Amino acid sequence: MAYKNDELYVEDASLVALAREHHTPLFVYSKSAMLSSLSAYQRGFAGRNALICYAMKANSSLGVLQVFAEAGCGFDIVSGGELTRVLKAGADPQKVIFSGVGKTRAEMRQALDAGIACFNVESIPELDVLNEVALSAGKVAPISLRVNPNVDPKTHPYISTGLKGNKFGIAHEEALATYRHAASLKGLRVVGIDCHIGSQITTITPYLDAMDRVLDLVANVEAAGIPIHHIDFGGGLGINYNGDTPPEADVLWAQLLTKIDARGFGSKQLMIEPGRSLVGNAGVCVTEVLYTKQGSDKSFCIVDAAMNDLPRPAMYQAYHGIVPCKLPAKPDGIRLARVPIYDVVGPVCESGDWLGKDRELDVVSGDLLAVLSTGAYCMAMASNYNSRGRAAEVLVDGDTATLIRSRETIEDQMKMEKLL
Ligand code: LLP
Repeated sequence: MAYKNDELYVEDASLVALAREHHTPLFVYSKSAMLSSLSAYQRGFAGRNALICYAMKANSSLGVLQVFAEAGCGFDIVSGGELTRVLKAGADPQKVIFSGVGKTRAEMRQALDAGIACFNVESIPELDVLNEVALSAGKVAPISLRVNPNVDPKTHPYISTGLKGNKFGIAHEEALATYRHAASLKGLRVVGIDCHIGSQITTITPYLDAMDRVLDLVANVEAAGIPIHHIDFGGGLGINYNGDTPPEADVLWAQLLTKIDARGFGSKQLMIEPGRSLVGNAGVCVTEVLYTKQGSDKSFCIVDAAMNDLPRPAMYQAYHGIVPCKLPAKPDGIRLARVPIYDVVGPVCESGDWLGKDRELDVVSGDLLAVLSTGAYCMAMASNYNSRGRAAEVLVDGDTATLIRSRETIEDQMKMEKLL
């Protein structure tokens, strides 16, 4: 993404031109940015028996999934809906793994019928139900146990998942007994181990700590006569939202691989489930300034995107950069000497509906802004709150821009409803 002649471009497509054609709010994704993020993981795993499973919860639009399916990725899914989507996008079911604490019997059956690679199981009751479902379908379910390593990832509490108090995974101390139980069930085949400690992690230490604990377990489980074929390290790295400095994926992997090799597990299949880092910085949301308004304490820049399109600021007080799609050249070529400071807010009737606080912006009604790093956990978490239709999405590949999702109309929204 760069300014050319004072206009912001995603690859070779002008955001101003895309907004003119498809209107706003509009998500725009760069295919080359996605593939370049993926290549950092591929480099990290070069020469290894490894599978990168895109955690499609980050962005499950079909066009995005297709990019990763064509690049040979596997997928981490968390629902039957995600399975249907990813198969439609061309994924190989044998590269699909199924995470999540609350899989239903119907979802288990759907995934067994599709022939997925592995169920990441999170509790003993889930193991027992999966065993029953598999036996009644005449199949054997490949499973891995998601162990909770009790490591603090030092991220937002809502997206920490590997601590004792979280609902996820099987406690480290109970893992060995649970593996023994799993191995005794005829409808299951133990294939792996997995963990996930949280999201938007920007330092290497929590991964190394979690890895130590997981590798200890691999050794114990194998000593109990249960072979572990793959080790899955859960989600990927955090990204740069506001000066964050996560390591490159290949740098992280070099350190993890040193540990894995030292413990003699280097020939096992290695997996990772990155979501945010593959798509987050590859997307922007283009929004139009509707009004500027001086409050008594603050000034507001009211835009046509809102918390229903971009829920992360409201949910996690998350920061997203906000920049103009066209740099504001004044007629005499001089920009404002003192740029006003605005809270950028949407039209939804909640005070929590803000996209950015205290931002310097030289804007007037009708200007276009780009909300940055919105490729992950934005469209996928969008809602129809205030009966707002969900935004359109465009995927750019060089100078080709494809509309991968049309703007949702009010008729689309009401299609499933009926009057009394
Ligand atoms: N695997 C599992 C089991 C997960 O729960 C997650 C994310 C991932 C992989 C992908 O993690 P990533 O590579 O994206 O960090 N909505 C929140 C993020 C929630 C993440 C939930 N789990 C946000 O917008 O920050």
